[in-house]
Amino acid sequence: MKLEDLKKYKFFWYIKKKLKIKSKNKIFFEKANFNRISFIHRALRKFPQKTAKYLEIGVFQNAVFDTIYLSENNKYGVDPQSGGNYKMTSDEFFSKNKILFDVIFIDGLHHYKQCQKDCINALKFLKPNGIILLHDLLPQNADEEFVPQRNKTWTGDVWKVAVELNLSKNLDFRIVNIDHGVGILKKKKNYDYRVLKGLEKERFETFYNKYFRKLPIISCKEAMKFIDSK
Ligand SMILES: C[S@@+](CC[C@H](N)C(=O)[O-])C[C@H]1O[C@@H](n2cnc3c(N)ncnc32)[C@H](O)[C@@H]1O
Repeated sequence: MKLEDLKKYKFFWYIKKKLKIKSKNKIFFEKANFNRISFIHRALRKFPQKTAKYLEIGVFQNAVFDTIYLSENNKYGVDPQSGGNYKMTSDEFFSKNKILFDVIFIDGLHHYKQCQKDCINALKFLKPNGIILLHDLLPQNADEEFVPQRNKTWTGDVWKVAVELNLSKNLDFRIVNIDHGVGILKKKKNYDYRVLKGLEKERFETFYNKYFRKLPIISCKEAMKFIDSK
């Protein structure tokens, strides 16, 4: 190797090392061949295929929606831009809705307050033994978390909803540590969604240092058991 090349190599190595140090607050996922779809299907398995009702908030390219094996009448996909079968915002949909669902997947706008609204509405329109799944609860770094979106992979700050669900009363809540964090939620009688004051301005560092380790994070295997349990 020429001296010049060696100098260049050393320089890049130094920068890489520095960057690594800078981004040491990073979240790693469980290595497993599961994703959000695995858990949605597992949840749907609990309900009779002929009558089960599924709602997806935020559908995009139908990557999940098309895999749902229910009749077209029992699948509700809500997105103002693309995919699904209800071209409107979640707020518009819930304001007119009268149907109760067995399984609801929340994956719409990744802004804390919108996701919080989606979650509160989903709880209202969930059958008593139904299951809600939420996507993107575990940002891996500050770029993925930042609002407004500045990174291709983007969870936004919906982790704040996970923090609130974890502190809420009579809500049984877990997060699977895969596929950007998949939340699983069941409601009990007299549940009470707890809105936390002062979360709105918090960013990734607060999530990582203050809340991440307190979240009910479970493995894929445990998640399957949790879904199957009463
Ligand atoms: C991350 S994508 C959904 C991906 C899809 N669920 C999947 O798993 O492949 C988010 C979607 O939410 C939609 N969206 C944005 N604001 C929304 C709102 N207020 N109500 C419902 N959907 C919304 C966007 O148009 C976008 O298609």
